[in-house]
Amino acid sequence: MIDNTDTPAITARLVTFADAFDAAFAADLDHRLDGVPDRLADAVRHAAMAGGKRIRPFLVCQSAALFGTGQAEVLPAAIAVECIHCYSLVHDDLPAMDNDTLRRGKPTVHVAFDEATAILAGDTLLTIAFEALSGMPTGAALAGVLARAAGARGMVGGQMLDLAAEGRFGVTPEGEVETVRRLQAMKTGALIAAACELGARSAGAAQADIEALGTYARAIGFAYQIADDLLDHEGDAAAMGKAARKDAAAGKATIVSLMGSAAARDMLDDTLRDAVAALGTLPGDTRPLADFAAFIAARDR
Ligand code: IPE
Ligand code: IPE
Ligand code: MG
Ligand code: MG
Ligand code: MG
Repeated sequence: MIDNTDTPAITARLVTFADAFDAAFAADLDHRLDGVPDRLADAVRHAAMAGGKRIRPFLVCQSAALFGTGQAEVLPAAIAVECIHCYSLVHDDLPAMDNDTLRRGKPTVHVAFDEATAILAGDTLLTIAFEALSGMPTGAALAGVLARAAGARGMVGGQMLDLAAEGRFGVTPEGEVETVRRLQAMKTGALIAAACELGARSAGAAQADIEALGTYARAIGFAYQIADDLLDHEGDAAAMGKAARKDAAAGKATIVSLMGSAAARDMLDDTLRDAVAALGTLPGDTRPLADFAAFIAARDR
C-alpha cells in the first residue's frame, strides 16, 4: 500500500469535487441539449448525471492546477472527457457488448429507455465532447488529444480487444499479461492519460512536464483497470452499483484471472508506487495526485 496517505480525506475530496462538477456539468448539458428531442435528452441526462465518481474530470482539474490554471478555465475539457467516458459506459452496457442492467446504482440506459435510444444517447455524448472542446482557446489541439484517446487506437480499439479476450470471435487469444496490459492501456488507460494531458495542455505546460505527467497517468490508468478487475472478482455489487463477477462468467482474460488476486493486488500497489514516483519533477502541489493513487488502491466502487 502507499504510505502517508489519508484515504478518507482524498475520498471526501473526490466527493466534494464530484458534487461541484455535477452542478456545472448539469448546467452545461441543459444548454447543449436545448432543442434536442425530449426522449434523447432524457436518456443523455440519465447516462451523464449523478452517481459517477468523476475521476477523469478530477484529473483534468488537478493536472491544470499544477501549472496554476483554475477549474473554471478547464471545465470544458473536464466535461469533454467525462462525456466520452459516459458514452463508453452506455455502449459498454448494451446487450451486444456486456449486456448489463445496472450502472451507478440505476438501470442502464437501454433498460431505462430502449436499445436504439441508448445508442443515440452515446452518439450524442460523443459529439458533445468535441463541441465542448471547440469552445476552448486551443480547442483544435485538445480535440486531437481526445480523439486519439477515445478512438480506435484508444478506448474503442481497447473495447474491441476486450471482446476478443472473451473468445467471441472464434479464436480465444493467448491469455498473457502483456496482451492484457496492452488491451487495458487502450480501453481504460488512454482516456485517463488524456484527462491529465488535457488539463496540462490547457494550462500551457511545458513538453517535459506533459511527459512526466504522462508517466504518472499511464500508471494510474493501468492501476485503475486492475482495481476494476479486482472489484469485479471480489467486490460488493451493492457498493459498486453495478454487477460483479461478470469477467469470470464471460471467460475473460484479466490480470486477476491470469495472475490470481494476490499477485494482481501486488502489481496494483507496485504500479501506484511508480505513479507517485513520476510526480517528483512536476511543479505545483502534487499531493492531490499522489493521494489519488491511494484512493485507487482503497476504492470499493
Ligand atoms: C468504470 O469507470 C469503467 C472503467 C473504465 C474501469 P469508473 O469507475 O470511472 O466509473 P464511474 O464513472 O465512477 O461510474
Ligand atoms: C469498460 O470496462 C471500459 C470502457 C471503456 C467502458 P468494463 O466493461 O470492465 O467496465 P465495467 O466493469 O462494465 O464498468
Ligand atoms: Mg466491457
Ligand atoms: Mg462492462
Ligand atoms: Mg469491469
